[in-house]
Amino acid sequence: MNIDGKAVAQELRQSLAIEVKQLQDDRGITPGLTVILVGEDPASQVYVRNKVRQTKEVGMISNEIRMPADTSQQALLEELTKLNNDPAVHGILVQLPLPKHIDEALVIESILPEKDVDGFHPMNSGRLANGDAAALVPCTPQGCVILAKKHLGDNLSGKHAVIVGRSNIVGKPVALLLLQENCTVTIAHSRTENLTDLCASADILVAAVGRPEMIKGDWIKPGATVIDVGINRIATEDGKGRLVGDVDYAEAEPVAGAITPVPGGVGPMTIACLLKNTVEAARRFG
Ligand code: GUN
Repeated sequence: MNIDGKAVAQELRQSLAIEVKQLQDDRGITPGLTVILVGEDPASQVYVRNKVRQTKEVGMISNEIRMPADTSQQALLEELTKLNNDPAVHGILVQLPLPKHIDEALVIESILPEKDVDGFHPMNSGRLANGDAAALVPCTPQGCVILAKKHLGDNLSGKHAVIVGRSNIVGKPVALLLLQENCTVTIAHSRTENLTDLCASADILVAAVGRPEMIKGDWIKPGATVIDVGINRIATEDGKGRLVGDVDYAEAEPVAGAITPVPGGVGPMTIACLLKNTVEAARRFG
């Protein structure tokens, strides 16, 4: 059975559109999201275009700042200072990756934590680790939990969640979120021994490794909920290529209780959760 991320993301955007309207009516606030894109990376341009379009669709103010690839770090930091001080900007997102001459960590730390709608600032990751509700939580991990709950219901208590991948953007924060949900959490990674058996003990399996179709059908406990965060383009005979996840979908689908497809699973949830964070930032700090 599929978990339809596209449909869940659409539902979330619809409810956000209502919240945006309420914020406008009750407090005269229109949530505003500014996205900064440095350089011309084609994939980043597509992401940014989608973010801008969806931000407008829910009735929020979208602002896009494009800077050339040779922009100095100083110029980018100055732009962030302006946005930090602009009361009409509730959310700031600097599209990653940045050109090599710019220090990504420094840039992230220069965003006001209250406007850090990516949830990447150490203040927000620290708050998440502490279980502090004031954290702005990274978008893809939020999407993973929403999709798991879509299938399992709101109570994930006692479930064994295995997360394959330990990145700061997905693996670690999704582990912390599932821990908050009272799951028993195991984080696995490239050095984990007996990975197959470990995965086969998961009630909830989150795959976030970036290796095409690495997780096979016999790694999955029958009836498990499988959340596939991978987006990998693989070569095909016709030369067009095809998007696949970190899970071998054809093998896993008959075994799993439910699985997120790629594309159309976790992917669409990321931007929807970015909009959710921006509405949240506007409500709290607007
Ligand atoms: N590049 C790819 N995904 C993301 C994301 O979620 N946030 C930012 N800022 N850049 C990205």
